[in-house]
Amino acid sequence: MDYNGQYPHHKMEFDTGTVIVINGDCADVLKELHELGFKFNTSITSPPYAEQRKDVYDSISPADFPQWYTNISTDVMNVVYDDGSYFFNIKEHVDKGKRDTYVYKTVIDISEKYNWSDEYIWNKTNPFPTGAKTRLKDGFERIYQFNHTTKYKFFPDEVKVPSTSKYLESEKKRKNKGEHNVTNGSSMNMTKRVAEDMVRPSNVITCSTSNLNIGHPAVFPIDIPNFFIKLSTEENDWILDPFGGSGTTALSAIQNNRNCVIIEKSEQYYQLIIERLLQYGRENYI
Ligand SMILES: C[S@@+](CC[C@H](N)C(=O)[O-])C[C@H]1O[C@@H](n2cnc3c(N)ncnc32)[C@H](O)[C@@H]1O
Repeated sequence: MDYNGQYPHHKMEFDTGTVIVINGDCADVLKELHELGFKFNTSITSPPYAEQRKDVYDSISPADFPQWYTNISTDVMNVVYDDGSYFFNIKEHVDKGKRDTYVYKTVIDISEKYNWSDEYIWNKTNPFPTGAKTRLKDGFERIYQFNHTTKYKFFPDEVKVPSTSKYLESEKKRKNKGEHNVTNGSSMNMTKRVAEDMVRPSNVITCSTSNLNIGHPAVFPIDIPNFFIKLSTEENDWILDPFGGSGTTALSAIQNNRNCVIIEKSEQYYQLIIERLLQYGRENYI
């Protein structure tokens, strides 16, 4: 794909894929990409959370967020293939001891237009203290998955994890030995289960927050885009991140032999994405 639209951009070719970095407001750029006929296999992003980090980049008020983000999600879905996926990571804040409900409102609004397929938990291994006496450390964030329909590209074998089943050995022995009174608490017949070393993961992804100090306050750990890119796309597919930040999604795309269009509104972070990607392949790149 080639971008010849009106916004400042930088195209970067790597052995493993192409990245196009675009500097602009995604609300405008996404409409232009739609007019230009761009299509993506998956979009993965983390928008600015309402009322957070106002000093370092634009953020929207909780009251305005649902409408604003539902409109952007429509612009994203317009450029996602019929069998593509849209994942976004967000967590509501606490204001004067009360969790805000803007994320729930947003999810309900988007699900009136698109198929809310799943939600994933990012379980953080290094949660930060909240500083509040009556609150525990905030140890997780959610990632929401939306699709056009219930049929979409999905490759769970690409994200298999080692089995943690305590009964692995005994299950192997039980295999093919007829009916047993074995239960896992569900109505599944566990005697039919074949124990494997690597199994389909749950929708809880465990990884630490990024500790990279590269001039952006909200860098994704690369494990997050890696997981969703492998789960929902194939090699040479195209990935979209409308809120580019420091460019982690683009880095994940080229590490996994995919291509990426990444949009960032701030000129400063647009330059950071380009600089970060220029380091790709060099020793100790970040
Ligand atoms: C939560 S950060 C994304 C971090 C990113 N996932 C990473 O790993 O670095 C959100 C980014 O969206 C950018 N942003 C805010 N409003 C935007 C808009 N309307 N269009 C494009 N980018 C925007 C901010 O400047 C910020 O860099």
